[in-house]
Amino acid sequence: RGQGKLAGKRVLVTAGGTIERIDPVRYITNDSSGKMGFALAEAAYRMGADVTLVMGRTSAEPPAGVRTVKVESAAQMLEAVAERFDGADIVIKAAAVADYRPAHAHSQKIKKSGEKPVLELERTIDILETLGRSKRRQFLIGFAAETEQVERYAMDKLKRKNCDLVVANDVSAEGAGFNGDTNIVQIYGPEGLIESLPLMSKRETAGRILSVAAERLASAAARS
Ligand code: PMT
Repeated sequence: RGQGKLAGKRVLVTAGGTIERIDPVRYITNDSSGKMGFALAEAAYRMGADVTLVMGRTSAEPPAGVRTVKVESAAQMLEAVAERFDGADIVIKAAAVADYRPAHAHSQKIKKSGEKPVLELERTIDILETLGRSKRRQFLIGFAAETEQVERYAMDKLKRKNCDLVVANDVSAEGAGFNGDTNIVQIYGPEGLIESLPLMSKRETAGRILSVAAERLASAAARS
């Protein structure tokens, strides 16, 4: 492990979906299994890094050898990540964070009534954008889950959220995105498309993403 391309580096990965409570027994979530984030955490560990995995709701098992922190909501994920951000060298946001949460979380189970119920939503804080604003030396990798105009939205996220890389997946494509064991991704940097990967396992995909990150970190270190 001491010899790996990421030996001595601290890597912070988020995985899974967040849970936004409506009442004590009901919530809003999404289809993220955690597999993409877990594969990234495992790949970073194999490359010699010290890895912390902040995980929301998942339907798979996290890899061995990495430190895990379990959270529920976007607000809790932000707190867990912000606490560990200063010490991190690479931060990878593979989690599917809810963009909206119920404006009021009821403390008691909501009872049925004759009226048509309305669920009022409010925006959650964008964790990646918050990190992008306060980043100093951290290498920040965001994900973009898109269903159309993948390149345009990915580059927009990279700039707006001040990322060093954005990994885009067309989540409407067969074999890509949520839940399965495979993905099809494009890796973008500030200059545009770096690599377009074919359908491959999330494990292999994670290895490629981290290799690009490790190369870029090494050349930045050589320049300074
Ligand atoms: O977990 P799996 O089943 O393996 O599925 C993998 C995946 C499809 C979840 C993963 O590959 C992926 O695309 N993750 C990002 C999903 C997402 O929320 O994409 P987005 O385009 O909505 O968000 C863009 C980026 O901003 C992401 O890095 C996201 O983590 C981040 N974000 C979004 C909203 C928010 N409130 N805070 C954030 O940090």
